[in-house]
Amino acid sequence: MRAWKVRFLCFVVLNAAVQNVTSLEEELPDSIFGNFLDPVKAFFDHKAESNATVAKFSLRKPSHPDDDLCYIIPGKPDSLATCTFNSTSKTFLIIHGWTLSGMFESWMPKLVSALYEREQTANVIVVDWLNSAQNHYVVAAQKTKAVGHEIAQFIDWIEETTNMPLENIHLIGYSLGAHVAGFAGSHATNKVGRITGLDPAGPDFEGKHAHRRLSPDDAHFVDVLHTFTRGSLGLSIGIQQPVGHVDIYPNGGSFQPGCNLRGALEKIANFGIFAVSDAVKCEHERSVHLFIDSLLNEQESAKAYRCGSNDMFDRGMCLSCRKSRCNTVGYDISKVRKPRNVQMYTKTRSSMPFRVYHYQLKIHFSSKVNSSNMEPSLTVSLYGTKGEAENLQLKLKEKIVTNKTHSFLLVTEKDIGDLLMLKFKWEETNGWSASSMLKMVSSWWSGSSDSANVTVHKIRIRAGETQQKMVFCIKDPDAQTLTQELTFVKCKDPWRTNRKRTPRRVTLENH
Ligand SMILES: *[C@@H]1O[C@H](CO)[C@@H](O)[C@H](O)[C@H]1NC(C)=O
Ligand SMILES: *[C@@H]1O[C@H](CO)[C@@H](O)[C@H](O)[C@H]1NC(C)=O
Ligand SMILES: *[C@@H]1O[C@H](CO)[C@@H](O)[C@H](O)[C@H]1NC(C)=O
Ligand SMILES: *[C@@H]1O[C@H](CO)[C@@H](O)[C@H](O)[C@H]1NC(C)=O
Ligand SMILES: *[C@@H]1O[C@H](CO)[C@@H](O)[C@H](O)[C@H]1NC(C)=O
Repeated sequence: MRAWKVRFLCFVVLNAAVQNVTSLEEELPDSIFGNFLDPVKAFFDHKAESNATVAKFSLRKPSHPDDDLCYIIPGKPDSLATCTFNSTSKTFLIIHGWTLSGMFESWMPKLVSALYEREQTANVIVVDWLNSAQNHYVVAAQKTKAVGHEIAQFIDWIEETTNMPLENIHLIGYSLGAHVAGFAGSHATNKVGRITGLDPAGPDFEGKHAHRRLSPDDAHFVDVLHTFTRGSLGLSIGIQQPVGHVDIYPNGGSFQPGCNLRGALEKIANFGIFAVSDAVKCEHERSVHLFIDSLLNEQESAKAYRCGSNDMFDRGMCLSCRKSRCNTVGYDISKVRKPRNVQMYTKTRSSMPFRVYHYQLKIHFSSKVNSSNMEPSLTVSLYGTKGEAENLQLKLKEKIVTNKTHSFLLVTEKDIGDLLMLKFKWEETNGWSASSMLKMVSSWWSGSSDSANVTVHKIRIRAGETQQKMVFCIKDPDAQTLTQELTFVKCKDPWRTNRKRTPRRVTLENH
């Protein structure tokens, strides 16, 4: 009973993802009602149907990334020659996900083109399982295993016929297609080189045994991008758990910049859940565009950093590259295989090229008076050899406590080069809560404010992309309060100022 409920809910959510509802207000009540019943009908209908699933293998041409001009037919070696399959080249199999329209989505030709752009002599094969994928989600999800089997047979056949090393085969699966790729990899006689899972589907796969979803066992190297792991109604469209050797969660794997989920939520409030479609699709599909970006913008590849949690990452605590703690997002990822999943995080821009520059700021707020309740608005401007990034807001993950070092993550969209100077500003937040009003009034009355006696002498910065560590000291030591914008310049202080004195240092001082 519970499983069905869950399936209904995920069906509604996923349905919302691609449905084009022209007149929301008119169609909403009927479509919701209809969709709650449809999965049941569809489920029983399809039980009776023949078990012949058909995956087709279209070798696309760089000149026609959108057209299926030549199919490779397993068992027919002639078709390899006809389609000019190059058995010494890399071979990509792109596996699409669930679809309502029964057609390829618009990202498909973009991904095909991007692969050819990077690997001119490659074989880019689009696996067409639209027939099964256009069923209701629950049914399509059940078909992933059978489709994976067929792809495994295709891979075995290619290997036998052409003697191609399977290290050259790279399966790229989106959404349900990621699990199809997993089944293909695990059923092929020998292991393929790589599987890339682009936001693998969550419903029906989350929490399942490794044999029933994409897992690190399915290829020599499995890398995964998670872009929509926050579900509506407690369900996640993209799988939340790590399922590869390296799992990257851009922007925490939940809200992707530029997808306007907020706008969508407002629409939902007005028009119901069907209005969520575009935003959901935007977040889910972002995984594909991040991968395309990595193919096209090799010189501007984005970095991801290993971290225990997204919260720690958001505090800037995980920008180290030591011992392969950081990696490249997308196609050029280094194939790091650890005994356990490696979870990595990165921030992105809202459009291509998606890369940003990550910085950790460590700031010690000192004061003679104890305070642990400050929520100022902190603004930083960075000035570097190639440009500047001004008025960036520091995200407060907790209240500011005096005589404590706080760590922040800051990102810039453009490359400002080597940092030379920064400006820092502390402002009282002008929230309208009663307590903040009271605070403001009392500070006017006493002629001081919370911040009046808080000082910052140094700001330590670690740049993720260059791995540089720098210390910035206050330019004007007499500017003791934070009420104005303060300028900090690079200084030679050691990065770790709170390190215990070493005997060596004591000796130096004695001489
Ligand atoms: C369907 O599967 C059964 C066994 O599971 C098999 O005997 C039969 O040949 C299959 N039918 C088709 C059309 O492949
Ligand atoms: C096949 O690919 C290899 C490199 O992978 C390339 O050197 C060769 O020219 C290609 N052959 C054809 C016929 O394109
Ligand atoms: C914070 O540290 C400074 C210098 O170590 C000290 O003078 C000051 O009293 C401390 N403030 C509090 C509230 O403990
Ligand atoms: C600040 O608080 C700490 C612990 O809460 C306390 O030990 C210290 O004496 C306080 N300092 C001042 C100056 O009030
Ligand atoms: C700031 O310090 C001055 C003395 O240096 C003191 O008179 C004032 O009360 C302090 N302000 C706050 C808000 O504690």
